[in-house]
Amino acid sequence: MTDSRSITDDEQPPELNTGVPQTARIWNYWLGGKDNFPVDRQVGDQILDAFPAIVENARASRAFLARAVRYLAGEAGIRQFLDIGTGLPTANNTHEVAQAVAPESRVVYVDNDPIVLAHARALLTSSPQGATTYIDADLRDPERILQEAARTLDLSQPTGIMLMGILGHIADDDEARSIVRRLVGGVSSGSYLTMNDGTDTSEEVVEAARIWNQSANPTYHLRSPDRIARFFDGLDLVEPGVVSPPRWRPEPSPSGLPPEVDSACGVGRKP
Ligand SMILES: C[S@@+](CC[C@H](N)C(=O)[O-])C[C@H]1O[C@@H](n2cnc3c(N)ncnc32)[C@H](O)[C@@H]1O
Repeated sequence: MTDSRSITDDEQPPELNTGVPQTARIWNYWLGGKDNFPVDRQVGDQILDAFPAIVENARASRAFLARAVRYLAGEAGIRQFLDIGTGLPTANNTHEVAQAVAPESRVVYVDNDPIVLAHARALLTSSPQGATTYIDADLRDPERILQEAARTLDLSQPTGIMLMGILGHIADDDEARSIVRRLVGGVSSGSYLTMNDGTDTSEEVVEAARIWNQSANPTYHLRSPDRIARFFDGLDLVEPGVVSPPRWRPEPSPSGLPPEVDSACGVGRKP
């Protein structure tokens, strides 16, 4: 198990492995960010060749995150969020979206990639009424994540757990479901699970995952939409259920619905 620790003012810069392509940095590259190295761009470009829709997929996933957080902070009245597998800071980070609706929102970010830790200060820009903190921890240790998060969040109150693009990094369904159960078990009734992950729904995306798993770290495992839906077992799914991100409560657009992407997402409420 990796040690979890919160970011502090005397934090030393973490060791960055710039020789091995890393998931957070490749994702950042596809989203148009600058926090990536030649090895990340090389694998990122290889995957782009096999699966050009990855860029649209990454953007659709971020757009879903923003709509889901707006729903949670708005209609659902959620005021605290636990965002695990945060990724590098980008536009519309969870606390920015939540605090635009409810400035008092409190957000705990969690990731285990040293480069995300190095950039985490950019996430600690809370509104004065709310709070943001960052924990350097591994998803495989949900008890420690909950324990550390409880310093910032009141887990006896409803919490929005965000697992965006991270459960695919846990190959085994039983292990991934156990992690979800333990996280959801640690928050109050009326809490929500929001998740999104890649699906094995086209030959191109399956080829992209194969290339990824040859060189990038950690490996990523596509699931069918049905396998992803099982992560919501025991929760009440918010309409429209588990769907491709552009189909989850889309905002009205004169150009109509954007095409589906090879991912499945949903929001479920703990009864
Ligand atoms: C594909 S990125 C998604 C980033 C962001 N959630 C988004 O949707 O834009 C996956 C993130 O999960 C993190 N991650 C992967 N495995 C992890 C683990 N076992 N524990 C904590 N973070 C992990 C990676 O470092 C990376 O930042």
